[in-house]
Amino acid sequence: MSEDAVRTAFPELEAIEDDDLRAGVIDAWVTAIAENDIDDLTAVPWLPPTQRELTLNDEYLVTHVRDVTACAVALAETLLERREGALSLDMDTVVAGALVHDVSKLAEFDEMDETAVYSLLGHPYYGVHVVARAGLPVELAHVVLSHTSRTTVEPAIIEAELVKRADEIAAAAIRWRATDDLRTV
Ligand SMILES: [Fe+2]
Repeated sequence: MSEDAVRTAFPELEAIEDDDLRAGVIDAWVTAIAENDIDDLTAVPWLPPTQRELTLNDEYLVTHVRDVTACAVALAETLLERREGALSLDMDTVVAGALVHDVSKLAEFDEMDETAVYSLLGHPYYGVHVVARAGLPVELAHVVLSHTSRTTVEPAIIEAELVKRADEIAAAAIRWRATDDLRTV
């Protein structure tokens, strides 16, 4: 799969103003796709262990990543508007960070099965590796590393906090399909 396939999957790439940052995000996805023999990016599931538990077969990674990106941008725009000049954040980092936050899953699952990367490294260390190899700034690796409670690294920058919260609510929207009490799943 090519750069064009990544651009088609993620139209939000066009919102990244910095050319190098946009190219790095595309490079991270293209590298992960090639290394993990992904034929159809749109067919990659969101989170197989949870999907099996909740019997939610029709949830996909691309949709989730786009949900997270839209939610993170909406939160950022709302706070920028509400707080007028009293908030400074880098919207490019929010968009780029949201777009790469789960790139790790391409290595962690083979269709609906967990791989050795998942069982031996866990989420989302492969993503940190791919993002660093793509030459993206360390802030992007930090967004990936701190977006999940599976690591001990908490968000240090507002952009990482926005992506983490957007990911939580987007994941809750999926889990909510399978329960009437989010505490149970
Ligand atoms: Fe996610």
